Amino acid sequence: MNTFQRFLLAVIFLSSFMGVVAKDIVNGEVWLDTSGNPINAHGGGILYHNGMYYWYGEYKKGETVLPDWATWECYRTDVTGVSCYSSPDMVNWAFEGIVLPAVPDDTDHDLHPSKVLERPKVVYNAKTKKFVMWAHVESADYSKAAAGVAVSDSPTGPFEYLGSFRPNNAMSRDQTIFVDDDGKAYQFASSENNQTLYINELTDDYLRPTGRYTRNFIDAAREAPAVFKHDGRYYMLSSGCTGWDPNKAELAVADSIMGDWTVIGDPSTGKDADKTFYAQSTYVQPVMGKNNLYIAMFDRWNKIDLENSRYVWLPISITDDKITIPWRESWNFDCINGED
Ligand code: GAL
Repeated sequence: MNTFQRFLLAVIFLSSFMGVVAKDIVNGEVWLDTSGNPINAHGGGILYHNGMYYWYGEYKKGETVLPDWATWECYRTDVTGVSCYSSPDMVNWAFEGIVLPAVPDDTDHDLHPSKVLERPKVVYNAKTKKFVMWAHVESADYSKAAAGVAVSDSPTGPFEYLGSFRPNNAMSRDQTIFVDDDGKAYQFASSENNQTLYINELTDDYLRPTGRYTRNFIDAAREAPAVFKHDGRYYMLSSGCTGWDPNKAELAVADSIMGDWTVIGDPSTGKDADKTFYAQSTYVQPVMGKNNLYIAMFDRWNKIDLENSRYVWLPISITDDKITIPWRESWNFDCINGED
């Protein structure tokens, strides 16, 4: 080995030791955190705050069961809580723990292990300086259809659970929160038995709905909403409604966040595009410091072993006003475009 080779080896060794080697995002594989454990953050979302990305998701641990009384495929795991991972680069993720834990000693509590906790999203409220989490809280039979809210002074928790309700007295299942440039926040939720999507404007502290809402995609059965803003327009990626099984994705656009929304169509292209690459949308995260670079995050559910569900993350391609999500087996942040 010559001096240069030795130098290269030392650089590789040192940088991997420091956890800064840019890794490929390999879709559908087990993704490990910086301690070498599988990342467990399903149906999640990302918050970018003070130079760090925080990934929150459903911590699905243990056996997946189909209850005896099930009349449909409501496979579930016990509620363990919401996990959080932090990363400076969206590649190397450090486990920050369970930031909203289950409440095992109160059978009536929304967060009791016997319930269902899905699709947590965390946003930062600049006015109150609080981190606010919204999640879908459910009974085991999915009849509760409510939103649960929790707050924290730190992105890594602990979050204090404030309780649950049906926003604007309407059912709320698959959901996300979007904060606009003017600081106003909105909850997007599958409502009316998952048939119609509600956009609920939130109060200035992000803890409640203001009472102003719109019904969108009426009877179109949209789930798994993921919202982003590009070039002054709002986009919503969503799935159809087939439980844990994959279906065709849909992209819609609006000039005003509460609607009217116009359906563009299925943005997925390439292998298994008609099944959203055997995955379901959960969030779209802009890459900081880049213009026009957004990462679409999906869950590849394993309904009979939910803990072993995987992730599919894909850069959104934006060319001449055409937005697509091309399949990539694997990719690297160094190799994707986006303007600095
Ligand atoms: C899906 C939904 C998931 C979960 C699942 C239960 O349609 O997107 O978050 O609720 O149904 O079957």
